[in-house]
Amino acid sequence: MIRRCVVVLIAIAVIVVAGIIAASRFNLSALPEPGRFEVYVATKGKHFLVRARSRDGVPGEPASSPASVDEGDTLFGTDCAACHGANAHTPTDAGRWMYPRAADLTSPEVQSYSDRELFWIVKNGIRLSGMPAFGRVEPDEHIWDLVHHLRTLRNGQRHSSQ
Ligand code: HEC
Repeated sequence: MIRRCVVVLIAIAVIVVAGIIAASRFNLSALPEPGRFEVYVATKGKHFLVRARSRDGVPGEPASSPASVDEGDTLFGTDCAACHGANAHTPTDAGRWMYPRAADLTSPEVQSYSDRELFWIVKNGIRLSGMPAFGRVEPDEHIWDLVHHLRTLRNGQRHSSQ
């Protein structure tokens, strides 16, 4: 009995010491680029969670139209360009140097999200990142306008609806 207690105490002590060492070596700086492993795990985890969370609670999508795309374009300028850049492709200095970096919204990786998933991201934001939640700032209709606008952006090109 006593021997078992000692083993458990030693195990706890080892875990605590390992935790302190790991915490003290953790790099708090946002300057270095993340390693491939970190990017892979974080990206997979993010896509998995976004897919799971966006299954419920996303209202029906209104049909896209040139007016909706234009409205989304205008909203993008006021709500999003400060980090993602005016063309949604080249982040501003603030967006580039926050961690994780503000995404290139024209990239295949972002464009591979479904409309529902994009809606969910814009409405809820991404926790532990600089991506804000717009759910209390913009009505659902505006968030769909933003999604319709994002859909017109591919490979760094801005396709105006006009
Ligand atoms: C304050 C800075 C900031 C603003 C403003 C901002 N974003 Fe973001 N956004 C980020 C960051 C940082 C990420 C990357 C999060 C991550 O990789 O986990 C991101 C990620 C995203 C993603 C998901 C990309 C991915 O790789 O998973 C989408 C979509 C997005 N933003 C759209 C928008 C839209 C639309 C707006 C405006 C309504 C907006 N963002 C405003 C910082 C911002």
